[in-house]
Amino acid sequence: MTASETNSPGAEKRGAEEPGAGDPGAEEPGAGSAAWELLLPAAAAPARARGRALQAALREAVRSGRLASGTRLPSSRDLAADLGVSRGLITEAYEQLTAEGYLRSGRGAGTWVGGAVRSAPPRARDLAPRSPGTRADFVPGTPDLSLFPRAAWATAQRGVLAELPHADLGYPDPRGLPRLRTALAELLARRRGVVADPERLVIVSGVAQATTLLGFALHARGLRSVGVEDPGSPQHNALYAAAGVTTVPVPLDAEGLALDPLRASGVRSIVTTPAHQYPTGIAYSARRRAELLDWARSMDGYVLEDDYDGDFRYDRAPVGALQGLDPERVAYTGSVSKSLAPGLRLGWLLVPQALADEVVERKRTMDLGHPTLDQALFARFVERGDYDRQLRRCQRAYRERRDALVAALEEYFPGARVSGIAAGLHVIAVLPKRYGPEADFHARVTAAGVAVRLLSECAHAPGDHDDVRLVLGYAHLSPARIREGVRLMAAAA
Ligand SMILES: Cc1ncc(COP(=O)(O)O)c(C=O)c1O
Repeated sequence: MTASETNSPGAEKRGAEEPGAGDPGAEEPGAGSAAWELLLPAAAAPARARGRALQAALREAVRSGRLASGTRLPSSRDLAADLGVSRGLITEAYEQLTAEGYLRSGRGAGTWVGGAVRSAPPRARDLAPRSPGTRADFVPGTPDLSLFPRAAWATAQRGVLAELPHADLGYPDPRGLPRLRTALAELLARRRGVVADPERLVIVSGVAQATTLLGFALHARGLRSVGVEDPGSPQHNALYAAAGVTTVPVPLDAEGLALDPLRASGVRSIVTTPAHQYPTGIAYSARRRAELLDWARSMDGYVLEDDYDGDFRYDRAPVGALQGLDPERVAYTGSVSKSLAPGLRLGWLLVPQALADEVVERKRTMDLGHPTLDQALFARFVERGDYDRQLRRCQRAYRERRDALVAALEEYFPGARVSGIAAGLHVIAVLPKRYGPEADFHARVTAAGVAVRLLSECAHAPGDHDDVRLVLGYAHLSPARIREGVRLMAAAA
């Protein structure tokens, strides 16, 4: 039999099977004639390089799975004839790859694919955080990814590829492209009331990276701890820890961070979400905002403002960022994770002068700057008003969804209370005692396929309370799915 017959598509599959290869665990031979064709370019290599080229091609065919484990190779005579090379080269290649473990000799005559080397390339696993198999997913944090403006994005992408100077494909200023920093400074000043000096604006891969950069900058100034809101975003702890800075939980009261515990905590800097506290949903009072800045000045410290969803306010115009009141005491950060898509990994950090050099140097050593094509694209998107349009579109959709959630809670959980301002992408729902205890409620609704996050998961110490307090994300669900999800939750409760 010739090589091409052995592996031609119509050839008997197991006619030349290795003894024992039919075990249930053994893999099917999968090579088509293409597997031998893979060797043709090597066979055509100059005489001196031909032997090595054949070995490399055969090795690659096994590694990539084109020659599946369990496949019998043609005899050296047949393969040599098919490829038009000397038989000695094939014998040598078989011996070399057998020694390396890519091939093995069967009992009696014959050479087979397999042995120590796995033939199929390893598959990458997906560790992205998701809630698989849920019937209703209220886990907060994700916007509606179907609202991503694909058409406008594609137009911007084409435009950018056409107009981008070659030089902008080189290593960027680690702070980001001047064009984007200029456009963003205008946007943030207009929409969030920040004092936006483009020279102190750093393009980052999200609030997460901004947090790590700030951690390094504080560490460089001798700070080893930073205060965080309790309850607060669970991700802050790990991010600051990566910079060698520990987090100290500071409780909240009705107006924001509680001042006495803050003063007693010993920290000199504090992380806050004043526009829409995560997760309780309160907005800091004007008085507390001023008190927080006074405290930071008195400590020669900083307020680290995470404006993660500050654009979305449904009952009034958004309150301006704290940074606008004292740009030398407040580091301000935000991202497109709630307005476009978290997968873009695109955000910004506006730093006080005293922290600027350290932050920029850290950004440089971390990744030499943010990808320039993404930056140019987003700059164009902002400049042409597309980002404002997207924010308006999300605002309309999310307001409607919040209303749907509040109405469904009223209908299916009589006596439930929704706390926090009408803003952002989540609400706190406080269910009456009769639904508790909280852990049992959580277990019941989870078993029914409803994913929810408990407020206590965001607290430093869970504490004792009788009612069930939920952080419910709604932005990624249609009003109909929200209603259905709440109905399912009530049926399981
Ligand atoms: C409080 C808070 N800040 C920021 C973010 C967003 O982080 P990033 O911009 O890195 O996606 C989140 C994500 O859910 C968050 O909950």
